[in-house]
This record gives sequence, structure tokens and C-alpha cells, in this order.
Amino acid sequence: MTLPSGDRMTDASNNAAAQKRQAAEAALGFVEDGMVVGVGTGSTVAFFIDALAGIRHRIRGAVSSSERSAQLLRERGIEVFDLNSAGPLPLYVDGADECDPQRRLIKGGGGALTGEKIIAEASRTFVCIIDESKEVDVLGRFPLPIEVIPMARSLVGREIVKRGGQPVWREGTVTDYGNWIIDVHGWRITDPVALERELNQIPGIVTVGLFARRPADVVLVGNRRR
Ligand code: 5RP
Repeated sequence: MTLPSGDRMTDASNNAAAQKRQAAEAALGFVEDGMVVGVGTGSTVAFFIDALAGIRHRIRGAVSSSERSAQLLRERGIEVFDLNSAGPLPLYVDGADECDPQRRLIKGGGGALTGEKIIAEASRTFVCIIDESKEVDVLGRFPLPIEVIPMARSLVGREIVKRGGQPVWREGTVTDYGNWIIDVHGWRITDPVALERELNQIPGIVTVGLFARRPADVVLVGNRRR
């Protein structure tokens, strides 16, 4: 039977949601007693926070990558620590917008890339939780988010155009740090480590949503581990 396109879309998003939940619940297997857990941002992480709430008495608490996740954590009775007082973290759990075969990621669709990158760097193990729609051979189908200091928006935009990208200002979005986001369309990112390094040199760029220099250590795609 051929499903009408509306039903097909509902089917795909139900399937994606089920895989996100499975990955989030599987990530609980990395949580050990007494841990302070690094927690990312997004709809997949929301499933993880729900799951974590079920074992909240076994952990010390969490460090959050965003105000949004901090609020969810507190609502579920999980103490939220500042990264400066928590020190290096044993575990970071977060979603992604794209993931390549080397576990390199595009992140920042939810606008929380700066906190996410800091916590990923501060963590020993980064477990990325996704559904299979996020798997790609080459990064770049999802527009690359870049957080910029507001006064540098046009400068950064011109630098992106010079490199063949099409910058689109995510107008109306202000990050937790008071910055703006540019989404870059049209890049096929065959060398994400080099691009991340190059973009990081441009004044005014706060964070590039490429997690290539520090990729995920483990990727959970629904119930499948990579
Ligand atoms: C937020 C992110 C998210 O991890 C990414 O956008 C994936 O979100 P979702 O789990 O809702 O699909 O990087 O800045």
C-alpha cells in the first residue's frame, strides 16, 4: 500500500522520535554512580534528561550546555552545577544534527553550540545520541551553524562567501551568551578538521558548529552503537 505523503512524514517522524528515545535510554548505560554528567541540548537530550531523572538519586548532578536544558534538569530534580566548580567531567551526552563515519559532527541546530563545545572539550567521554536520519557520508547537507559576535556578522558573512558558502543570518535568535548565529548553506565538508581550524581563526567567530577536532567517542543510533 502506498501511503499518502502526509502519513509518510508522520511515520518518519514517529520513527525518528522512537530512535531518539532508544539512543537516549541506551546512553544511561554510560552513567556511573556519583557522576556529574555533562548534558547537551535538543529533543533527543530531552529524552535523556527524562531517563536520567529516573536514576537521579544515583548521580551527583549535571552540568548543562544551555539554559533550556538547565531548566529541564532542575524541573526533574537534578542539581545543576557550574562547569568551573565541577571540573573535568567523566561523561557528556548530547545529540547532533549530522554525524559522519568518523563520528565528526555538525551541531548547533538548537543554537547551543558554544556551551556544547565547551562541555565536550571538558569531558573524557562524549556519547552522541541520534536517529539514523542524522547519519551522512560527508558533512554539510545540514547548514553549518556558526555563533558570532553581533558586530562581526557581516564580516564573517563575507569571509564565508569567499569560501564558497551561503551565509544565512538566523534572525531573531540570540544565544545564551548574547551572540547571533549564521547558518552556512552549500558546503560539502570533506575535511572538517581543516575547516574548523580555518574558521576558528576569523575574528568575531565565537564557535563553529563542527565537532571534528574533538569528535564524539561513541555514537548511539537508536539501539545501534558506533
Ligand atoms: C543543539 C544541538 C542539538 O544536539 C542538535 O540540534 C540535535 O537536536 P535534536 O536532538 O533536537 O534533533 O546541537 O544546539
